[in-house]
Amino acid sequence: MKITSYFAKDLFQGKTVFITGGSSGINLGIARNFAAVGANLGIVGRSQEKLDTAAAELRALGAQVSTHSADVRDYAALDNAMQACREALGPMHTLVCGAAGNFPLPAEQISPNGFKSVIDIDLLGSFHTCRAAFEQLKETKGNIIFISAGQAFMPYAFQAHVGAAKAGIDNMMRNLALEWGRFGIRCNSIAPGPIEGTEGVRRLVPEGSADRLKKMVPMGRFGTPDDIGQLSVFLASPLASYITGTLVVADGGQNLPGSGAWTQLILAEMAKAAR
Ligand code: NAP
Ligand code: COA
Repeated sequence: MKITSYFAKDLFQGKTVFITGGSSGINLGIARNFAAVGANLGIVGRSQEKLDTAAAELRALGAQVSTHSADVRDYAALDNAMQACREALGPMHTLVCGAAGNFPLPAEQISPNGFKSVIDIDLLGSFHTCRAAFEQLKETKGNIIFISAGQAFMPYAFQAHVGAAKAGIDNMMRNLALEWGRFGIRCNSIAPGPIEGTEGVRRLVPEGSADRLKKMVPMGRFGTPDDIGQLSVFLASPLASYITGTLVVADGGQNLPGSGAWTQLILAEMAKAAR
């Protein structure tokens, strides 16, 4: 896939970017945009098959790629993955905490273990990732990007678990920015809006309602993985060297009218589907 990047082609030459959940969707889009500016990539996910497919695509863009099958809930596995990535590609300069899970469900139907699974992958997994990466980031005076979501600052129907997890991530991001600034490490979050062609949209947008939902976005469209990829490159680059502790919302203005109309439409569509 061809990437149109507006940055210098060598902006990340020789630098390593480590991305959890980097084998698909938004995170793979982020990886592609870093590959387009010369970065080498360490990608983590549970499925080795998905990692291999993504790695082939990233290598075709010129990147050196190290793949690591690990569950972000397993600290030791993640720590091993980061050591192995360092041996293959050198210390990481940028860390993207992108692994996440989501299934839309009314709060009264989410089982305790279902709630815990989302918290464990998104929030605890992000802490594991940052904790295991700390020494490498300290060495490179690197930076962290968390992939948050609009659910973190606005309630959406059937997203109680995800909202709690992503709000926790953003607060942790600010804590880490506060504490790790003294090591030269910057920390920021990106809250993408609905991104075309991703698993998140497949799970959250009821069939047949995409066009109506797009009309509720001030920019009139869903986003693309490249929208989030370009922003990630900017935030990780020297162009953003004084930006830390910030949540950047990249959603075409979707949050501005609030989540009410979106929620009503989804409730109506789901009630129809349940009939
Ligand atoms: P996706 O393709 O399913 O991305 C999730 C990635 O995380 C997958 O590569 C998955 O790979 C990996 N993953 C899941 N659980 C994991 C675990 N326990 N350990 C390690 N890796 C794990 O979905 P996406 O829609 O592109 O979402 C990517 C990120 O964007 C997420 O943080 C999501 O919350 C956020 N987001 C998405 C949207 C959207 O419109 N799609 C909007 C706002 C925010 P494996 O299954 O192989 O592990
Ligand atoms: N509806 C209701 N409950 C669900 C569910 C669904 N669609 N999917 C999982 N659960 C519940 C399970 O029933 C289980 O709870 P229980 O023990 O009380 O029955 C709990 O969640 C854990 O399920 P499990 O299948 O073991 O989870 P997992 O850890 O293997 O997978 C998920 C994590 C559930 C988040 C899974 O959807 C996933 O791997 N997602 C990654 C991709 C993704 O969500 N992408 C979009 C990002 S926006």
